[in-house]
Amino acid sequence: MSVREEFDAWAAEGREQGMEDRHWHTARPILARMPVEDGDTVLDLGTGSGYALRALRERGIGAAYGLDGSPEMARKADGYSEDDAVGFLVGDFDHLPFADGSIDHAFSMEAFYYANDPHHTLEEIRRVLKPGGTFYCAVNYYEENVASHGWQANIEIEMTRWDRSEYRDAFRDAGLHVAEQDNVPDREIEIPPASEFPHEEFDSREAMVERYRTWGTLLTVGVAP
Ligand SMILES: C[S@@+](CC[C@H](N)C(=O)[O-])C[C@H]1O[C@@H](n2cnc3c(N)ncnc32)[C@H](O)[C@@H]1O
Repeated sequence: MSVREEFDAWAAEGREQGMEDRHWHTARPILARMPVEDGDTVLDLGTGSGYALRALRERGIGAAYGLDGSPEMARKADGYSEDDAVGFLVGDFDHLPFADGSIDHAFSMEAFYYANDPHHTLEEIRRVLKPGGTFYCAVNYYEENVASHGWQANIEIEMTRWDRSEYRDAFRDAGLHVAEQDNVPDREIEIPPASEFPHEEFDSREAMVERYRTWGTLLTVGVAP
């Protein structure tokens, strides 16, 4: 199954709203840390509903581009925005349709690991960033987050499961400096009392606390030289 087929189906089921609601818990503090300035051009890779760019526009960024491999997802995102400065494009992480050194900052939430060739995607990001531009890469699916390991069984697109150091190494191999790496906890999700477990996919309260409060979202920040 292709990215297009998979996520067009998700969009048809309206799943972009559920993703936005869940991902916002950690995307919000991560977006708040991005050093955007008035008029900056920002790219969101795997934009889904496009919420990240809508939030960054409130901070005065200029042109904002949401790239997504699913035409239906891009169409939905476009429908949620009435802002002419925000554009949604259909395209793949394999080839970013932007000129060299044309983007001030890039963001991606829960999308990077679907890249067909994540090393090449990082090279592409490095190519399009201006000197000093940043890439804020946020993932919930990664090696240390053991609760995420089962997710691959639910989706036919091959997902890359790197650990923290593999992210740092890959960023450096692509020519990006690693400015920081952090686990951003999800403090908003409600965790029921122990007596209510099993709950969702968790056997115990401890497992759910570890998934959300300890591992949360892995953020790796790259800076273009
Ligand atoms: C799990 S959703 C996350 C969406 C959004 N960033 C969020 O936080 O809710 C992943 C998104 O990335 C897109 N995507 C996955 N692989 C892609 C690729 N190789 N090229 C472009 N978009 C891709 C999907 O179509 C989907 O909209």
